[in-house]
Amino acid sequence: MSSLPFFHLVADDLRQVEALLRAQEANPHPAIAGAVDHLLGSGGKRLRPALVLLSSHLCGADPSAALFAAAGVEMLHTATLVHDDLIDGSLMRRGAETLNARWSPAATVLTGDYLFARAAYLVARTANVRLVQRFAETLMVICNGEIRQMFDGRDRVPTFQEYEQRIYAKTASLIALSAEAGAILAHADEDTISALHRYGERLGLAFQVVDDILDFVADEQTLGKPVGSDLRQGLITLPVMLFLEDSHDHPTLQRLRHGPLSEDAVQEAVRTVAASPAIDRSLQVARGYIREAKETLQSLPPSDYRDALLDLADFVTRRQF
Ligand code: IPE
Ligand code: IPE
Ligand code: MG
Ligand code: MG
Repeated sequence: MSSLPFFHLVADDLRQVEALLRAQEANPHPAIAGAVDHLLGSGGKRLRPALVLLSSHLCGADPSAALFAAAGVEMLHTATLVHDDLIDGSLMRRGAETLNARWSPAATVLTGDYLFARAAYLVARTANVRLVQRFAETLMVICNGEIRQMFDGRDRVPTFQEYEQRIYAKTASLIALSAEAGAILAHADEDTISALHRYGERLGLAFQVVDDILDFVADEQTLGKPVGSDLRQGLITLPVMLFLEDSHDHPTLQRLRHGPLSEDAVQEAVRTVAASPAIDRSLQVARGYIREAKETLQSLPPSDYRDALLDLADFVTRRQF
């Protein structure tokens, strides 16, 4: 991933972010230290810290604050994944075992909490109260969205607006924060802050739509996490919503509304949706968000960093992992 063209401008910074992520100032229990090593060592695209760094350079933020903010958002992302995999009962992430595959729910929750605290600690080291406040707000939005996804409307197909609200909460909110962070740190004008926020929001919506598509069409080895996991949990995402528009009486997918499917039914449903035009239609939705993300950047002055953000946007609809 770090060989992708839009990463080369921040390759050195990303190495320093990696060092900050792995630094263990608080001398934690070896189990926590081992878990952090395992989680960070298994990879990940580092998309969110790259966004923080690109927007920081674009706006002229203090370089050291930018590194702390970049490490903070990646740590927050890692913490949400630890809890997400526990909630989903997922055993593989980034091609490696999840913490919950080895540990009890209690130990996994506590390690996730530790990572949330470390994320807050890193962001606090920017000494920028507005960024710390945005960080806390974003975490509230993510948790609220996850609870809504758990409690509301499991027995019916969501409207597009409900779907968009859900993917904003779970994914786009943090990507928007990452993109606007550099502008906040640089005390840029409000128009610049909101342009970068909107760019990140549109990018994040596309990113989650593509994640939802990959859950049907990806090669599990390349993806590094299980395919079909949304349907397995009874979660209706855009590919299924669009599939049902054309085939609302499909028996297997109809059954989804009455609870989880058997493993055979999941496999069949994944194959059916993957082979349908709903995949391409979902990709068109993602491309629409990417168009909006790129249009938003037109209000900022041209630079290599702006070009990198444009390239990064194009990558989102091409990615295979
Ligand atoms: C996975 O995020 C969770 C989603 C928001 C879809 P990424 O696809 O950025 O995961 P890593 O960090 O590269 O593993
Ligand atoms: C993850 O969304 C969102 C958060 C971590 C809050 P998904 O549940 O789609 O992510 P994956 O597919 O497990 O990576
Ligand atoms: Mg998940
Ligand atoms: Mg997913």
